[in-house]
Amino acid sequence: ATEAQEHDLVIIGGGVAGYVAAIKAGQAGLKVACIEKRGVLGGTCLNVGCIPSKSLLNNSHLYHQILHDTKKRGIEVGEVKLNLQQMMAAKNTSVDGLTKGVEFLFKKNKVEYIPGTAALSGENEVKVNKIDGGEATFRAKNIIIATGSEATPFPGLTIDEKRVVTSTGAISLNEVPKKMVVIGGGIIGLEMGSVWSRLGAEVTVVEFLGQIGGPGMDAEISKMSQKILQKQGMKFKLNTKVLGGDDSGETLKLEVEAAKGGKKETLDADVVLVAIGRRAYTAGLGLENIGLEVDDKGRLVIDQQYRTKIPHIRVIGDCTFGPMLAHKAEEEAVAAIEYITKGFGHVNYNAIPSVMYTHPEVAWVGQNEAEVKEQGVKYKTGSFPFSANSRAKTNLETEGMVKFISDAETDRILGIHIVGPNAGEMIAEGVLAVEYGASSEDVARTSHAHPTLAEAFKEAAMATYSKAIHY
Ligand code: FAD
Ligand code: NAI
Repeated sequence: ATEAQEHDLVIIGGGVAGYVAAIKAGQAGLKVACIEKRGVLGGTCLNVGCIPSKSLLNNSHLYHQILHDTKKRGIEVGEVKLNLQQMMAAKNTSVDGLTKGVEFLFKKNKVEYIPGTAALSGENEVKVNKIDGGEATFRAKNIIIATGSEATPFPGLTIDEKRVVTSTGAISLNEVPKKMVVIGGGIIGLEMGSVWSRLGAEVTVVEFLGQIGGPGMDAEISKMSQKILQKQGMKFKLNTKVLGGDDSGETLKLEVEAAKGGKKETLDADVVLVAIGRRAYTAGLGLENIGLEVDDKGRLVIDQQYRTKIPHIRVIGDCTFGPMLAHKAEEEAVAAIEYITKGFGHVNYNAIPSVMYTHPEVAWVGQNEAEVKEQGVKYKTGSFPFSANSRAKTNLETEGMVKFISDAETDRILGIHIVGPNAGEMIAEGVLAVEYGASSEDVARTSHAHPTLAEAFKEAAMATYSKAIHY
């Protein structure tokens, strides 16, 4: 082994959390190295998460729209054919471009990129098994752990990423399954279920709870979104438990049972997507070598400045507390470096948006109605349907609505929930409003260009503090 190298900061993991921290540290003039075992930067998000899934969502939506939604728009098309291989190639092009972009940004900001697997060997020491052979030891004043998350397996089903898949297999199937069963009606189940449903698969989503969308989605919005997805052809079995599976035959068999009443049935599938959540990933990191703690969900325990009980070792992103989202990881990365270099940082966890990229999209920020109710806060709501919005009407995309929840006394916005076209872009305005502590009247009195979908946002705010004009 060679002599240990001295660094101001060593980052373990080159996902969104790790790479953003590395760039920010480079910009601050720290001597920084980032270790990534995948052989490619960008982590889950760029390689097998946000980016490839959104490529498939976009292109499968175009395909579906050309097949089913052109006639009434005055567009006559001839034979439409799916070229799945090319759709996958387009996805890979987007992924490659972005991961190489991160490598370029590392060079630009003088970040040392070390492809290899890291383990903690001391409070200031990281050992690396390099991908191209050999070992290296780094001594660091500061260490950031950003090792991310992995799919939670389903007990009794063996994941082969071909027939029984997580999202990683689901973004790379080489043919459209006839029947797909999705276990878990959360964000991954609905996004990836949408992709394959649009491409022709018969998709059934089995969800344990009584509503789809996973944690956080407002019940009213969830119901509306479910109705729309059903119209598009997806099937749902809510309040249903998967008891077990059999993958020995040509067709996969899943035994499911209604949570109430106990009615059992067997579902056939060519592909089963396991999407019951993700869990923190810290395997092989050597936490035990220095006594770092994880909670009952396997998440590294930290304080508000992202410090473990060894204060110069910090943790950010999916492997610690909070929502498992790329933009949350990014905020934490910037804040963690600011804590190291300046002593203070800022992340407002009440103003982290969530977006589900189905069509139409679902997006929200702040609290949902059930959460507000549970806290006993007096609140009011206002909503506006896209069917009354001029732009949605011209676009022939009128499904969905915007819903505001604000404090009954102060009118301060507590939550904003959207299902509708471009909800994911529109929510940025809601995040800004929540971040600045705006009231619904503040938003309502802000001029919004006509004709835009954003006017539905303004009118929902108007409906909250007074009355909407167009509904
Ligand atoms: P990761 O991206 O998981 O990165 C951690 C990295 O650390 C990995 O590359 C891993 O190889 C590396 N690593 C682990 N251990 C070691 C070690 N010992 N040594 C060296 N390297 C190591 N979020 C959104 O906000 N929007 C979306 O649209 C979205 N879509 C998603 C779609 C899918 C299908 C999935 C699965 C996730 C999606 N997410 C989305 C979530 C998002 O991907 C994560 O929140 C984000 O990647 C978290 O970043 P991270 O850096 O904490 O972890
Ligand atoms: P999730 O937590 O969003 O949803 C999991 C769903 O599975 C829940 O509705 C849960 O009730 C259900 N479930 C759990 N156990 C079950 C069982 N045994 N049987 C049936 N249903 C069961 O998790 P998901 O969809 O796996 O996604 C993981 C995370 O990845 C998300 O929480 C999110 O943080 C991130 N992600 C974000 C995306 C985005 O921002 N657009 C896209 C994809 C993933």
